[in-house]
Amino acid sequence: MTVMAEKKLHEMSREERLDYIRKATRISDDIEVMLRPLPFEDANRMIENAIGIMSIPMGVATNFVINGREYVIPMAIEEPSVIAAVSKAAKIAKVKGGFIAEANDSIMIGQVQVVGLGNVKHAMTKILRNKKQLLAIANSNSRSVTAVDLQVRQLRDKSPNNMGNMLLVELVIDTKDAMGANAINTMCEAIAPYVAKITDGEVVLKILSNYSTKRLVRCTATFDKEELGGSQIVKRILYAYALAYSDAYRAVTHNKGVMNGIDAVALATCQDFRAIEAGAHAYAARDGTYRSLTSWRRTKEGDLAGEIELPLAVGVVGGVVNAHPTAKFALQILGVKSAKELAMVMTAVGLAQNLAAIRALSSEGIQAGHMKLHARKFSK
Ligand code: MEV
Repeated sequence: MTVMAEKKLHEMSREERLDYIRKATRISDDIEVMLRPLPFEDANRMIENAIGIMSIPMGVATNFVINGREYVIPMAIEEPSVIAAVSKAAKIAKVKGGFIAEANDSIMIGQVQVVGLGNVKHAMTKILRNKKQLLAIANSNSRSVTAVDLQVRQLRDKSPNNMGNMLLVELVIDTKDAMGANAINTMCEAIAPYVAKITDGEVVLKILSNYSTKRLVRCTATFDKEELGGSQIVKRILYAYALAYSDAYRAVTHNKGVMNGIDAVALATCQDFRAIEAGAHAYAARDGTYRSLTSWRRTKEGDLAGEIELPLAVGVVGGVVNAHPTAKFALQILGVKSAKELAMVMTAVGLAQNLAAIRALSSEGIQAGHMKLHARKFSK
């Protein structure tokens, strides 16, 4: 729940901003402690050959109403103007009710690759015959993450090395509120020796797929034409979208703008942003051509309606999410109760960030916008 602030956030001191967050979120923990850089000893436990901590500014985006709830959104990013721009876009969306988002269940795929099979079809039948046992083995060491199904596929090597036919045994796994990578990999490794035995083949890879197409998130919003600057701007934004839909050179930059928002929330909440990026871009190319992750149209009333859909594997439990004090704090600011809710917030930020960018590009241009913002900052 957002508290009405007398001053705008960008006019406040850091202390005043923290106070605003305390009131808006009712966080009782010591915020200063949670915002402290990670102690070196923790970093040294997390990665190898650690030499220090790389710090990135963290701010908050405001004005977001998603599914009727107000959110203060933490974003970690080194690029100026991103947070101001997304907050402005969210303010415009608010006029027409904010963002409507929905997310699929947290279903992911774990792949076990089997090669060296004389008869792949025969091996598939044998695996399916042992499906129940394989699922039981996958689930034997897991508490909340659950393998719910097992599928098999035959695949022919399309690489120039011509390695022949292979079998893919795919675990379908509900990771619930976790991103799930560790649990999925553990399950794949657990069933691998049995898969090899059953098929009399050689297991090579056993790993999750970061292309989580069963874990899609969608978000829509309508932006009032007058708030955007008039119907001419709406038309110019549609031209911008036409270019992003039709040309990969523009689509990559357009989607980079989307990811400015999504990655910044991912970073603030310690998500695996590399996995998110890889999945998002593969999804952008799902029909064979790399396209815009967002789509835009004019409504009957002449307003601008936007939509975004992408796979988002994020978690609110497990991994470093709960071990990193600042990530924990970021999740507390958001007040999200589930991985699905976090994914919905991130998708709304992606849509808003894209609107902000293409609106600026369709009018005064991004550099002119940046310059104005900086002039305001440095005139103080
Ligand atoms: C800059 O970080 C992002 C933009 O280039 C995105 C876009 O062109 O849509 C402004």
